[in-house]
Amino acid sequence: KPTSLWGGRFSSGPAPELVRLSDSTHFDWRLAPYDIAGSKAHARALLTAGHLSQGEYEQMIAGLDALAADVAYGAAQPIAGDEDVHTALERLLIERVGAELGGKLRAGRSRNDQIATLIRAYLREQAATLAAQVRDLIAALIDQAERAGTAIMPGRTHLQHAQPVLLAHHLAAHAWPLVRDLSRLTQWDERAARSPYGAGALAGSSLGLDPRQVATDLGFAAPEPNSIDATAARDVIAEFSFICALIGVNLSRLAEEVIIWNTAEFGFITLHDGYSTGSSIMPQKKNPDIAELARGKAGRLIGNHTGLLATLKALPLAYNRDLQEDKEPVFDAVDQLTTLLPAFTGMIATLTFDTERMAHLAPRGFALATDIAEWLVRTGVPFRDAHEIAGTCVKVCEAQHKELWELTDDELTSISPHLNAGVREVLSAEGSVAARSGYGGTAPERVAEQLAELREFVDAT
Ligand code: ARG
Repeated sequence: KPTSLWGGRFSSGPAPELVRLSDSTHFDWRLAPYDIAGSKAHARALLTAGHLSQGEYEQMIAGLDALAADVAYGAAQPIAGDEDVHTALERLLIERVGAELGGKLRAGRSRNDQIATLIRAYLREQAATLAAQVRDLIAALIDQAERAGTAIMPGRTHLQHAQPVLLAHHLAAHAWPLVRDLSRLTQWDERAARSPYGAGALAGSSLGLDPRQVATDLGFAAPEPNSIDATAARDVIAEFSFICALIGVNLSRLAEEVIIWNTAEFGFITLHDGYSTGSSIMPQKKNPDIAELARGKAGRLIGNHTGLLATLKALPLAYNRDLQEDKEPVFDAVDQLTTLLPAFTGMIATLTFDTERMAHLAPRGFALATDIAEWLVRTGVPFRDAHEIAGTCVKVCEAQHKELWELTDDELTSISPHLNAGVREVLSAEGSVAARSGYGGTAPERVAEQLAELREFVDAT
C-alpha cells in the first residue's frame, strides 16, 4: 500500500480529490532510473559524511541496484496514492531493504533538489539522442544535394520566381539551420551540466554532504553554486523546450516546401511509397502526411514552450509546486521530436526530384531579369538605369506572352541602345547560376565547396 513522505503534523490523510490532483507518477515515472542513480550518489555522500556505515552503504547500493533492475523490466511500478516518483521509489526501496535502512536515504536531500537534478539528467540524455537524429537529417539533405549535382531549380522570394539556383544550394540552405540547432544543443548542455543535488529544499544541507561528489557521480561538470537558484530555476528547461520548438519550426519550413513541391501544379518531387499515405475514400491519393505532421507538430512544440514560459512567469523564489508543470511539456517535446525525426529523415532521403521540370521552369517567369540588369552594369550602365531597362524588357515580354530570351535584336535595341544580342549570353539558367560565383553564392563551384564543408561537419559529428 502507498506510504507518504510526510504526515507527522497532519491529523488526517489527504482528501481523495487532492490525491488525484497531486499524483504525478503517470508522467514522472520515466525519471525513476535517474532518481535511483541520484540515490546511489546520495548514498555515497551519506557514507562519506558518516551518516551510513560501510555495511549499510553496501546494503543500500545492493537494494537500489535490485530496484533499478525491477524498474527496468517493469516489476517495480508506482501504485495509486504514490504522490510522485520519489515517494514510489522510497516505498519500493523499503520493500527491499526494510524501513530501518530505507528510511535513512532521505537525509539531507529534498524532492526539490532531486527533481531539479533528475530532469536535467534526463534531458541531457535526450539531447544526445535528438542531436544524433538531427545529424542524420542533415546527412540525408547533404546526400540529396550531392546527388542533385548541378540541377537547377526556380529560386523564389515571396513564393514567386526570383532567380535560378542550384537544387543542391536550396537543399543545403535547409541543412544550415539544423547545423545551428546542433550547436544550440551542445551549448545548452554546458549550462545543463550543473547539478542542483545537495541544495536540499532551498537552503543547502547541514549534514556535511558534498554536492561536488554527487555532481561528479551523476555525470555533471559541477554542482549549482546557489541552493535557492538550484531548486527554483527552470530556465535551463525552458531553453531546452525552445530548442525543441526551433527544431520543429525548422523542420516545418522544409515540410511546407515538400508539401508544395508535391502538388500536381509544382510537380517537383515524388515521395517514396513507404513515406506517404493513402486515402480511405479516394483511391488515387498519395499524401505527404509526414510533412504535414511535421508542420502540425511544430505548432504543438511552440505550445509546449510558451506554456512552460507562462508557468514560470512571476513565480517567486524558491520552489513552488507550479514547477511540477515543467515536465509534461518537455517530455512531450522529446517524444514528438524523437518520433518525428526518423520518419522525416526517411522521407527526405527517399525523395526523387523531377530535375527536368525544375530546370524547364527555372528561367521562366522572367527570373533572368536581374541578369540583364547586371549585364548592363558590366557594360558601364548605372544600376538604377539598368534596373529600369530590364524592367521594360519584362513589360514588353509580358504583353507578348513570351520569355526574355525570345526578344528580337530589334526589340532589344529599341528598348535601350545599351542592349544588344550580346545580352543573350546571360539569358540562360546555367549562365545565371554560373555568374553567381561570389562566396556563399549558387555557382556550382561555390556550392561544391559548401557541401564539402557540410560533409566534413557531419562526418565529424
Ligand atoms: N513532484 C514535484 C515536481 O515535479 C517534486 C516534489 C516537490 N514537492 C514538494 N511538495 N516540495 O516538481
